[in-house]
Formats: sequence, C-alpha cells, structure tokens
Amino acid sequence: MIYNVKVAKTWLLLKINRSITFVSTQILTSYVLYMTRPAMIVANWKMNMRWAEGLALADAVIQRVSPFVSPTLQVVLMPSYLHLAALGARLTSPPRGIQLGAQNCHHAPEGPYTGEVSVPMLHDVGVRYVLVGHSERRRQWDEGPTLLAHKVTAICSHGLQPVFCCGEQQRTTMQSALAIVQQQLADSLFHLSEVAMSQVILAYEPVWAIGTGCTPAPAQVQEMHSGIRETIAQQYGRTLAQQIPILYGGSCNPHNAATFFTYPDVDGGLIGGASLQADAFVKVVEAMHACPRVCLR
Ligand code: 13P
Repeated sequence: MIYNVKVAKTWLLLKINRSITFVSTQILTSYVLYMTRPAMIVANWKMNMRWAEGLALADAVIQRVSPFVSPTLQVVLMPSYLHLAALGARLTSPPRGIQLGAQNCHHAPEGPYTGEVSVPMLHDVGVRYVLVGHSERRRQWDEGPTLLAHKVTAICSHGLQPVFCCGEQQRTTMQSALAIVQQQLADSLFHLSEVAMSQVILAYEPVWAIGTGCTPAPAQVQEMHSGIRETIAQQYGRTLAQQIPILYGGSCNPHNAATFFTYPDVDGGLIGGASLQADAFVKVVEAMHACPRVCLR
C-alpha cells in the first residue's frame, strides 16, 4: 500500500515536471519568435497626393524616418501607381532602408487588361509589398475571395510579399468578428504552401474604424490578433504563426499608436490618413521604435 502511494507520488511529480517543462518551452519559444518578428509601419496613401505633393512628402518622410529603420523595424511606403517608379529610385540610390509597396495589382503577368498593372511590372520598379483585400477594394470594386486568392498567389509566385487585409464591416462581438476574419483568411490565403504563407503580412482593419476616428480598444485589437495567430497556427503550425507580422489599421495615429504597439501581437500599423503628413507619420514610426521589442534589440 505504502509502496503504491510512493510510486503514484513519483509518477505525479514526473508528470507535473514534464508539463512545466513543456509549457515553459512553449512560452520561451513564443517569446523568442515575438522578439525576432519584425515590426512594420506601412503608409497607405490611397488615392491622395498629386505628383509634386507626393514627391515632397516622400522626401520629407525618407529623410526623417530612415534613421529609425532597421531589420527589426521596417517602414513601407505605398503611394499610388503614379509615384511608384520615382519613389523606387529615391529609395534605392542611395539605399534608405525604407521599402516600396503597391496598393493593388492584377493577377495575370501581362495581357489585354486595360488600366491594370501586373506583379512583374511592380517588381521592376522596386516594389516589394502589395496590398490585397483592402476593404475599399472589396466594397467599391467588388473584389471577392477568389480574385483575392489569385492576387495573393501571383504576388507570392513573383517573390513579392502580400499585405493581406481582413476585418469585419460593423462593430460586433469579438466572437463574430473573429469568425468573419477567419473566413476571409480561409477563403483567400489557406491555399498557400507553407513557404508562400511565410511571406504574408496580415493587417487587421475593422472597416468601421477606417477614416472614422473610432477604434476598438487596444486590448480588443490584441485579442483579435491573438485569435488570428491561433487560426494561422491551427493551419500552418505555431512556429510559422509566430513569425507572421500582424498589423493594425483603422484610425491609427500619433495619439493612439503607442498604446496599440505595446501589445505583443500587434506588430505595427497600416496607416491611412496619418501617413499623409510627414509629422504625423514620423510620430507613428517613433512610437513603434520606442517599444522595447524594437529599441532593445
Ligand atoms: P485610416 O488610418 O485613415 O483610418 O485608414 C486606414 C486604412 O485603411 C489603411 O489601409
């Protein structure tokens, strides 16, 4: 009897020990991957900035933001198609560390598609990132999940990186917002191989927060990002999920950016209105740069 109790005790202790080791390894791995995941600030100029204005804004931003850019903090400018080639030249000679992105693309490499621009064309002027699934394109151009999946495939197959936007239309419960986002991810991303998926950047943009000045509470954004990461983990494994940057977009500005960026699953921002003024944009970049995950590395 005494012998049995002793054996049971030892067995239990061993089990507890193993569980503790397992959990601490998981936490440590997550922390290491969190600390190595790059932070990103992306400027989406949308259909703003005439020729001269755009060049002036880019020059101001390049000059003031370059000192903050490093492998741990990446900054991407997404102007209209009009400015891409000129900005591409400005960003590469001399190299400024800041990257170039496009707001859209066609999924075919070339052909009779009047008014469209293909991924290889974007590649040739220095574009590295392409926005896909922005709510304005989903709504105003009726871009559906299948078309978005084709665009994502085209971007990845030419060695560029999609910045894939997802988010619910209206304020709702966390549970139904997450269900909407999970469907968007499944419909347009989950056909990708692991290698292609590892190139994807995600941007959570609740539609009701875009350009309205209203935002979810930062803790709610953290909860959503963590739910998104868990969804990716279930599909592609925990390591890959921990490597993917998840950005927040929707009325993110110099006043609220720092609060969003302190949360562990908020890896940066997709900035609309506040990217149109150098001062405001620089402050958002500074807010990310001041976070321990960036400035301590
Ligand atoms: P605002 O920052 O103007 O709300 O826009 C967000 C957005 O749509 C970025 O893609």
